[in-house]
Amino acid sequence: MTPDASSPSPPAPASTRQQETAGPETAPEAPDYAPMLFAYHRAHAAELKAMIATLPLGPADRVLDVACGDCAHAQWLAQRVTDGVVLGIDISAPYLHLAERQLETAAAGSGAKAAPVLLCAAAAEALPLPAASIDLGWCAHSLYSLPEPMTALRELRRVVRPGGHVAVLEQDSLHRVVLPWPADLELALQQAQLRALQRRPNGPGKYFAARRLATLLEDAALDTVSVQPFSTMRRAPLDGDERCYLDGLLDDLRAKAAPYLAPAMRDRFERLCDPGADTYLLDRPDFHATYLDVLAVGRR
Ligand SMILES: C[S@@+](CC[C@H](N)C(=O)[O-])C[C@H]1O[C@@H](n2cnc3c(N)ncnc32)[C@H](O)[C@@H]1O
Repeated sequence: MTPDASSPSPPAPASTRQQETAGPETAPEAPDYAPMLFAYHRAHAAELKAMIATLPLGPADRVLDVACGDCAHAQWLAQRVTDGVVLGIDISAPYLHLAERQLETAAAGSGAKAAPVLLCAAAAEALPLPAASIDLGWCAHSLYSLPEPMTALRELRRVVRPGGHVAVLEQDSLHRVVLPWPADLELALQQAQLRALQRRPNGPGKYFAARRLATLLEDAALDTVSVQPFSTMRRAPLDGDERCYLDGLLDDLRAKAAPYLAPAMRDRFERLCDPGADTYLLDRPDFHATYLDVLAVGRR
């Protein structure tokens, strides 16, 4: 969903509260991509909540959100388990500070009934929970960025009770958002991104988690795995949050792919990616973007 998130800060207690009430856009030390992801959550809240609405949950369930980030998903999960509890864990202390402030803002502003959301600093690969202690383990748009996705999935299975579920929402890096490039440029961009991914330490495989989700969950000894695709389209004119997210996406694409494009292709690409140019892709009246997600649910 974001630029590679695999280099987070070391774990730290989540209890240190920020003195100021800065929003996520200004949170000190938050990951670079945090405002972009925050904007995405606002712009796609209805669709993401609809995905969460399909999860096998009861009102008193205990839910774990692994790699919770700004805890948007944890808050939506909490609205599904009003008499239960949601625990969000993340390895990044800045992200947990940001999540804490989100929870404070939500508590002050909304009357919607929701379970308490607790936060904890921990690694997905070593969850600080007893075996069989939760009903559903959730991991959204993060599996691909974890250093050891299979270890994380096995940990999720360990902490879920027999009969409970593990649910993973993921995208494939090269197809997460389909944009209306000219077809030849699109193919060149796919190739350039693949070359960039091939230079990563473990190669490109883990950046294609969505298409392998069923196999990954089965390999983690989960049963009766179901896989559901979701697509969402946005057209011009874009609202502020959508634009903020897509601006960030194009910036990231520029950083990753441009070095691998042939000069003529790179010039065309740069003109379409320059927010100051009248050729900027997002300003086209016929602009449209299609988001592709896969949700897999396995039973323990
Ligand atoms: C792309 S963000 C997604 C956050 C959130 N799930 C969402 O959908 O917005 C990836 C998250 O994974 C966290 N993360 C990275 N490595 C981790 C690890 N080994 N254990 C736990 N969290 C990790 C990062 O700190 C970051 O919050």
